[in-house]
Amino acid sequence: MNDQELKKYLQAKGNLQTELFTKANKLREEYIGNDVHFRGIIEFSNHCEKNCDYCGIRSGNKKIERYCMSKEEIKECLDFIDQVKYGSVVLQSGELTSPAAKKFLLEVVQLINQEYPEMGITLSCGELDSRFLKELKEAGAHRYLLRIETSNPKLYEKIHPASHSLKNRIKTLENLKKLDYQVGCGNMVGIPGQTLDDLITDLHFFQDLDFDMFGLGPYVIHEDTPLGNSKNKKWWVANKEEIFNTTLNFIALLRILIPTANIATATALDVFKPQGRVWALKAGANIIMPSVTPQKYRDKYLLYQDKPCVDEDPTDCIDCTIEKVKMARLNPVLGKQGNSLHYKNRHG
Ligand code: 5AD
Ligand code: SF4
Repeated sequence: MNDQELKKYLQAKGNLQTELFTKANKLREEYIGNDVHFRGIIEFSNHCEKNCDYCGIRSGNKKIERYCMSKEEIKECLDFIDQVKYGSVVLQSGELTSPAAKKFLLEVVQLINQEYPEMGITLSCGELDSRFLKELKEAGAHRYLLRIETSNPKLYEKIHPASHSLKNRIKTLENLKKLDYQVGCGNMVGIPGQTLDDLITDLHFFQDLDFDMFGLGPYVIHEDTPLGNSKNKKWWVANKEEIFNTTLNFIALLRILIPTANIATATALDVFKPQGRVWALKAGANIIMPSVTPQKYRDKYLLYQDKPCVDEDPTDCIDCTIEKVKMARLNPVLGKQGNSLHYKNRHG
């Protein structure tokens, strides 16, 4: 597909959008089938050293209460994932690089590997150094999610403090590839000031770096952040429908460009429509990540405003996510890791 076609499809609505989703689904069926795999996500800490302009748990947000779950609490979540057979866990937190935080994360990964050897382990803890990533890999972590947010250096600079470096993020992604992780990337669609050309550049970036997995979602305003100022809020509210549609179209295009990749449906889509995540599955996503974070922590892990499921409990999320997969006429698969076929193929 050339850039002109990509641009046309990114803006698709109505019949053109149906045509796009049909194409994506045909390729999905052909390459990976209609199975959808689960990852139970534990947002184990909202501490973060970084201060991204869009994010509700940025270090500069003094309004929120910080938490870090204990190993015992994490163990309870892991027992739950094991019992309900999600097959994989995603451990997510803000970015922490202190020796104590690193030791804690390593011990959690070791615990999973020892106690639940069948469980897939994905980490999503920001830009960690290569030596530590190697230790985590050796301890049993085998997938890592690190979004690029935007591949446009100018836009990246605009939405991050000067100390945050796009180069370092790319370097970390390259390190993850070298260490032989299944590597996931993604962006935010609908960042104020982002153009369709930026999104096309993101698609090319994802193809060029040949990622195995994707977790991308729409930008959602958060009022207690610099990017969530009143001018941007007005713009965002007026463009919600557009941002939602463009995100779905982006997912469908990714499925077409990299048919064997694992693509997750983003919870943030449910901010836009009650069945937002179902739409992403219909557009080409094949992974769903039910929250396993205990209810008492959920309203403290607000990367964006109006986050869904904060009043729910992990048990509520089981049937709800299975139902979403069925609503998309896809096949929910429990008890399997559901690794990336793209990764497998890269290894012959
Ligand atoms: N809207 C949408 N996604 C956000 N993230 C952070 N803040 C927001 C927001 N306001 C996403 C970033 C980050 C991931 C953990 O959460 O893409 O990589
Ligand atoms: Fe921290 Fe990630 Fe939020 Fe940035 S987006 S402030 S790194 S949690």
